[in-house]
Order: sequence, then structure tokens, then C-alpha cells
Amino acid sequence: MCEAAPVSEPALAPRPSAASRATIAQLMEPGHANPSGNVDGGVIMRLVDSAGAIAAARHCRSRVVTAALDSMSFLAPAYIGDVVTVHAAVNDANRTSMEVGVRVEVEDLRTGELRHVSSAHLVFVALDEQGRPTPVPPLLAETEVERRRQEQARVRRQQRALLRSALAAKERGTTH
Ligand SMILES: CC(C)(COP(=O)(O)OP(=O)(O)OC[C@H]1O[C@@H](n2cnc3c(N)ncnc32)[C@H](O)[C@@H]1OP(=O)(O)O)[C@@H](O)C(=O)NCCC(=O)NCCS
Repeated sequence: MCEAAPVSEPALAPRPSAASRATIAQLMEPGHANPSGNVDGGVIMRLVDSAGAIAAARHCRSRVVTAALDSMSFLAPAYIGDVVTVHAAVNDANRTSMEVGVRVEVEDLRTGELRHVSSAHLVFVALDEQGRPTPVPPLLAETEVERRRQEQARVRRQQRALLRSALAAKERGTTH
């Protein structure tokens, strides 16, 4: 008896990391302050998500949603009057998801001093017109740095998968 061959997806051409890099710079104004008068962490997280989504969408040229944000620490405060700059680059692309690395810097406009405030890794998933995950092009890591980031992203992907299956097992244990 003949078996139907599995339907394979057409291969997408790899895209270089450099083609999708994104940078957002924003002046911090009084509306961005927390009750202490410094920049609210949520404002920076919002910029991180936006810059990451732009890089991911540039890579796959589809709509994207944030699936995960790894832990994020704030290493230094940002003040009203500073410029917050978020640099984002796709570290790796899988079947429908992409890991994006972001680096947040704060510039004191009076002195030009640059402070590294935070770094984070996010996972975005590409969606088709029906809102279902859809394949993305592989990432072409062209430089030594990009290849190292891609290898590190693959390790983090495995760690996230382990964490998700552990959480799913725990969830099953509590619901049965
Ligand atoms: C992200 C989402 C589309 C994934 O849908 P899903 O039904 O789990 O889809 P799949 O199981 O087919 O997984 C699709 C991809 O997402 C990845 N993924 C799903 N959940 C993930 C998570 N928590 N962390 C990292 N990656 C995840 C899978 O690894 C897979 O990647 P791959 O195709 O590259 O291997 C779905 O969970 C969703 O819509 N979440 C809400 C997104 C959102 O609203 N974000 C904004 C929140 S404020």
C-alpha cells in the first residue's frame, strides 16, 4: 500500500542577522517617571519589547508576538532628561520562533556618558494571517560574534524547553 509523503514546507532563504537589527532611542520625559522621580522600569521594558519585535518582524516579514522574556535586571538607574537607547538583534531563528538579544544603554545628554542599564533575551513567534505560528527564515550568522550568539541562543532554547516541560508536568500534577 502506498503511503502519502509528508507535506514539507518550502525552504526559506536564510537571512543575515545584520539585515534585521533595530535601534530605538527615546528621550525620557516627566511622564516616564516612577514615584521616586527616576525612569519607570516598565517604560524600559516596553522599549525592549518594541525594539525586539521590530528586529524579529524585519527578519521574518510577518506579524510577531512575544512568547517569552528571559529574566531582566536593571544594573543602573535612568533619569528624566536621559536618552534610553535599545539595540536589538536576532540571535537565532528556529521553525517559527526567533530569539532576539537586546542591550539597553542610557546617555546623559549633558556629559555624553553612556551607561549599560540592562540586557535581555526575548522569544518572538511569527504568525500567519490566521494568527497561527508560521515558518521563519533560518538565521545566517556571518561574524564570529554572531556565530557565538547563535550557539548561546541554542543552549538557552534547550533550557527554556526543559523549563516549559517541567512547568507543564507540574501543572498536570496540580490539575489531576
Ligand atoms: C506564542 C504562541 C503563538 C505559541 O503558540 P503555540 O500554540 O504554543 O505554538 P507552538 O507550540 O506551535 O509553538 C510555536 C513556537 O513557539 C515557541 N514557543 C511557544 N511557547 C514558548 C515559550 N513560552 N517560550 C519560548 N518559546 C515558545 C515554540 O518553541 C515554537 O517554536 P519553533 O516553531 O521555532 O520550534 C502562543 O503561546 C501565544 O499566542 N501566546 C501569547 C502571545 C502574546 O499574546 N504575547 C504578548 C503577551 S503580553
